[in-house]
Amino acid sequence: MTTATPTAIDAPVYEGDPFSMEALRDPHKFDGEVRELGPVVYIKKYDYYAITQFTELQKALRDWRRLSSADRPFYEDNPYRPKVLVLEDPPTHTISKNAVMSVLAGDNLVKFEEYFTAEAEKLVDELLADGPIEIDAFNDLAVRYVLKVFPDMLGLPEEGRELLLKFGDGVFNVFGPESEFQDQKLARAAEAQQWVEDNTWRTQQKEGSVGAQLYAMVDEGKLEEEHARQLLKSIFAAGFDTTTASIASMFRAFADNPDQWELLKENPDLLENAWEEAIRYYPASRYGGRVAKKEAVLGGVRIPEGSEILTMWLGAGRDPRQFEDPDSFRVDRDMSKGHLSFGFGIHTCAGNLVARLEARVLLRAVLERVERIELAGEPRQAVNYQAFGHEYVPVRLIPRD
Ligand code: HEM
Repeated sequence: MTTATPTAIDAPVYEGDPFSMEALRDPHKFDGEVRELGPVVYIKKYDYYAITQFTELQKALRDWRRLSSADRPFYEDNPYRPKVLVLEDPPTHTISKNAVMSVLAGDNLVKFEEYFTAEAEKLVDELLADGPIEIDAFNDLAVRYVLKVFPDMLGLPEEGRELLLKFGDGVFNVFGPESEFQDQKLARAAEAQQWVEDNTWRTQQKEGSVGAQLYAMVDEGKLEEEHARQLLKSIFAAGFDTTTASIASMFRAFADNPDQWELLKENPDLLENAWEEAIRYYPASRYGGRVAKKEAVLGGVRIPEGSEILTMWLGAGRDPRQFEDPDSFRVDRDMSKGHLSFGFGIHTCAGNLVARLEARVLLRAVLERVERIELAGEPRQAVNYQAFGHEYVPVRLIPRD
């Protein structure tokens, strides 16, 4: 990003409403239209700027000094959003990120992989025990698997785990304009609030769990007690809706594109690439937020100092300047240049290694056992301000011989 120059132009103005029900029901169409207006677009109705195109968004996400995470459009203090990580800038962000990455990578990941693999294989074997089966890939596969494996690794009780999805749904609806829709979502999430509070205290953490490891850092003088609790809460907030949604969306993509399942079966080495393509095609998060601490210029377009900003990664994932034929799902697309579905820069998703592991392990278990995935009804997309995903994906799984 460069500093402002006299040649910079004002952003094109968008008169529509990115939070209308119409937009929430088809964010790819909507965010695509806004993206094609320019790399930065002024959203008049809410007085914020949207960074829409891949290259400029990637540049913006590098520039945390100018584009701060400590404030953003629609942000008000609330009980759902932990006040760490995604709402911090360095130097406090660095302390939080190092702490959380130390429990979501390294040796823990090796332990997770072994457990995730065993559970994924068990689940898929169970589903296919009697031959072809019709399931909802959201509830019967993604939710069943994710709510088993990750909470087990976090050391959470069995009872109440489903509340993690309601909590996540609340977290991802906070970040948008006040509306009746938002009120309903938050009322639903309120049920989960107490469970989350109860399960983030030090006394609740099982020996060796992720939570216990975070509290051990308090004993070593690296974190404050409340800081550790907020970090654990941020894992609860971001770690479940995202992965269930993206796994269900991936199976929808395969059910809609049977030739891609064939291609993957013939080339199982494409599995990691296929997952990256799936998360580009159907990202679990539509946007993030920043505030311009100083004037910025992106792609020749000016963002004035003090502006609130949305970082539109869902639309950027379909940017034709970056991805050829972006609206098609191709497991052999060259994904080596990356995507922005996990964000980019210092705020890159802290759980990306866990999310990738969960999804790849399950995809491998299904790939090794399933001949065909057929759509068995009309999938239903979930409606949420910030999150994107599917709440119902009816598919028929035909086992391999
Ligand atoms: C497919 C699943 C997931 C997707 C698509 C996703 C997406 C994202 C994105 C786009 C960001 C950047 C936010 C920003 O820059 O404003 C982010 C940050 C974050 N994610 Fe994820 N996420 C996923 C899964 C997870 C999981 C499983 C966890 C926890 C185990 C997690 C924890 C976090 C945290 C703590 C942050 C804040 C990082 C920071 O501010 O430095 N996410 N995620």
